[in-house]
Amino acid sequence: MQEAIILVGGKGTRLRPLTNHTPKPLLNVAGSSFIRHQIARLMDAGVEHVVFATSYLASLFEEEFKDFSQDLEISYAVEEVPLGTGGAIRNAARLLRGGPADGPVLILNGDILTGLDLGAILARHKDREADVTLHLTRVPDPRAFGLVPTDEAGRVLSFLEKPKTPEECVTDQINAGCYVFSRSVLSAIPADREVSVEQETFPELVAQGRRVFGHTTEDYWRDLGTPLAFVHGSADLVTGKATSPLVAGPVEALIHPTAVVDPTARVTGGSTVGPHAVIGPQVVVERSIIGRGVTLAEGARIHESVVDHDSSIGRESFLHEAVVGCHSHVGAQNELPGRLRLSCGIRIPARGVRVSGTAVACPTVH
Ligand code: GTP
Repeated sequence: MQEAIILVGGKGTRLRPLTNHTPKPLLNVAGSSFIRHQIARLMDAGVEHVVFATSYLASLFEEEFKDFSQDLEISYAVEEVPLGTGGAIRNAARLLRGGPADGPVLILNGDILTGLDLGAILARHKDREADVTLHLTRVPDPRAFGLVPTDEAGRVLSFLEKPKTPEECVTDQINAGCYVFSRSVLSAIPADREVSVEQETFPELVAQGRRVFGHTTEDYWRDLGTPLAFVHGSADLVTGKATSPLVAGPVEALIHPTAVVDPTARVTGGSTVGPHAVIGPQVVVERSIIGRGVTLAEGARIHESVVDHDSSIGRESFLHEAVVGCHSHVGAQNELPGRLRLSCGIRIPARGVRVSGTAVACPTVH
């Protein structure tokens, strides 16, 4: 039986306020929660049992899948206290059904969008008789990542910290957050304390001379951990740059049938519009995520942003790379600049925030 573990227990702090009430893997991406896209890919690869390693807002995962009736068994390994990525793997391994000691288990981070062929990495792991195989991807600028150099046969040489100088950029390969573990290796991870698989388990396995290999591919890859990456990943799924069994085909935008979009509005660039959203006249939504029950008033422009559920954006307001938490209201003629995050339930009055144009007349008497 092919089994998998998905790590979904992180707090997703970089995606706040979207993750204040919803764990990152349950956020909506291109019409479905992200974890459903992952599950669909696992099922396509022949996985029959998946263990969710949960911690933060754990009960919401069981809620999401309580009516799941497809041909996949789902188990939940709940950590009362987060055990870190390595501790989570070891804890979840308790619930695996078993198999030969060297049988492979797929392990996925719950926030990576990738076109990796899961069958191919499993086959590679078997051919090399590896203990662990890591999916590696190449990045144009490796300075923001820990690096994973390999030898000509693909064997991992070391796990290096983020490089500080050009000389330290010895490779452009980074850990892509998908692994195959032989079952016997899982028991080497301590079960009773927090462990980082990246910083402790992998370097220790290499130091012990275990067979740790990289599987480097040029497939689509994106870590959805930051707001901009999140909107870009969602848009890539809609426009077909990234694929998922749950997204029918490339389209310009994914608009829920219950949403109401004025004929003069433009929704483009792989945007998604959730149920019961109302998009007013002359609105432009580009490469953005508009949540359930959101209202965008006439002339609003939303660019590479997320507006979470039940919020409203006033007339002629402009959002650029912004995140608006749920149940918030942005009045008319505001300009929310790049990287601004509005918490849940915030109200900004008309013309309260501007970064350009003429100053509004001072309403106070001096
Ligand atoms: P940030 O707080 O924004 O860094 O996000 P995060 O909490 O998700 O951390 P990170 O992106 O580094 O985590 C990578 C993957 O591991 C994600 O899928 C997390 O859900 C998962 N993860 C991180 N820490 C834990 C943990 O302690 N337990 C479990 N079960 N999963 C974890």
